[in-house]
Amino acid sequence: MGNVVVIGTQWGDEGKGKVVDLMAEKADLIVRFQGGNNAGHTLVVKGIKTICHLIPSGILHDAKKCLIGNGVVVDPEVLIQEIDSLRDKGVDLNPGRLSLSEKAHLIMPYHRALDVAREAVKGQSKIGTTGRGIGPCYEDKVARIGIRALDLLETDVLEEKIRINLEEKNFLLTRFLNAEALELRPIVDAYLDMAAILVPYISDVSVEIDAAIRGGKKILFEGAQGTHLDIDHGTYPYVTSSNPISGAACAGAGVGPDKLHHIAGIVKAYTTRVGAGPFPTELLDETGDYLQQRGAEFGATTGRRRRCGWLDLVAVNNAVRLNGLTSLAMTKLDVLTGLKTLKICVAYELDGKRISYVPAGLKEMSRCVPVYEDFPGWKEEISGAREMSELPAAAGEYLKRIEKITGVSLSLVSVGPGREQTIELMDPFR
Ligand code: GDP
Ligand code: IMO
Ligand code: MG
Repeated sequence: MGNVVVIGTQWGDEGKGKVVDLMAEKADLIVRFQGGNNAGHTLVVKGIKTICHLIPSGILHDAKKCLIGNGVVVDPEVLIQEIDSLRDKGVDLNPGRLSLSEKAHLIMPYHRALDVAREAVKGQSKIGTTGRGIGPCYEDKVARIGIRALDLLETDVLEEKIRINLEEKNFLLTRFLNAEALELRPIVDAYLDMAAILVPYISDVSVEIDAAIRGGKKILFEGAQGTHLDIDHGTYPYVTSSNPISGAACAGAGVGPDKLHHIAGIVKAYTTRVGAGPFPTELLDETGDYLQQRGAEFGATTGRRRRCGWLDLVAVNNAVRLNGLTSLAMTKLDVLTGLKTLKICVAYELDGKRISYVPAGLKEMSRCVPVYEDFPGWKEEISGAREMSELPAAAGEYLKRIEKITGVSLSLVSVGPGREQTIELMDPFR
């Protein structure tokens, strides 16, 4: 019996939410460990769509505990909105079902303002962030001036910390970034009001997880973003400000590496990316449009149109190595239906040489030309398939080749957004 980590292997939006919701059935605790409400994880249960930005995607299963780890940056306003909107849908969200780590850093209004103002100043060279204040909040954490959930328990300390921070942020906003200053009082009042709501949820998440593991419970760690948005290993600087790779589950939830047993990498059957940055297999033609439309590729957080391209196994293999993947969960295979020929990128050509790694430099990356293998497509709709034998032979070949090139077996194949639209191949908790 083990614990499972779910990781995005590409540039985010691989379908982690759907897979976590599905796997949560077999878990006891579901834990987010990095990122913030830049994430948008979509769950479709009995035809009803729910998007989780902060609350772990196991929340729709009654009696499963969801935890927000110390590595997550939490916008309290968004968290409260999410609690309220889930409650409106009839989900039980008492503090017995949801915990917020006392050590999680809080996103403040000045983080959002800085995020937006920095992007505006960058103009053409902007990253295309979600504008949610994620980067500036992590900056303050590392600069040791951040405000943590714990600070909501001590209201006088909270006010003083906000005051000191705001002085510096207002200087930056007005003198350097051409933006408006923010006022102290409304921020303090809003955070005091929100403290009253959130304090019952605050706990020591690491200790909770430890107690659960000692009690024989199974933990599902839910990654956000994707491996190639990783601050260290992604396409820097076009990345997010946290580590979405599996190793971060330890630091971001407060568990040792011996507690991570199965690492499931979520792979979309093609590739998408929101925001700017390198994307070697991007398709700027009608095939790209076909994937975008059939896959309904619009951001679950910002509503932006996602860039689409062929499956890039150089990137996926990079994720296999960086995360120590023990299985692949393939999503959105149904979206490929109707394409005459499918392509998989198996290497890059860089200045006439064939390479099988993702270069760290943007200039090198921009010169990488994908080397493709071609596969015949299929015409049949496959969303009804629940067994591999129900897939067209061509789809089976496509999947086999992916397993062969990555050297990692598939744990599931998703053929539609619904929880039940899945071919389950192994139980990752065993
Ligand atoms: P996440 O951020 O990794 O959780 O992914 P998102 O929720 O942002 O984006 C994935 C989108 O694809 C969502 O709209 C899902 O409902 C949808 N989805 C997930 N799996 C499948 C699938 O197998 N087929 C189809 N057609 N849609 C899927
Ligand atoms: P999920 O968990 C896709 C991208 C943004 C931008 C870059 C930096 O739903 O897969 P940030 O606001 O994090 O500073 O933006 O990262 N990005 C995502 N792209 N899915 C996500 O999350 C993302 N979270 C951030 O578009 O390019
Ligand atoms: Mg998403």
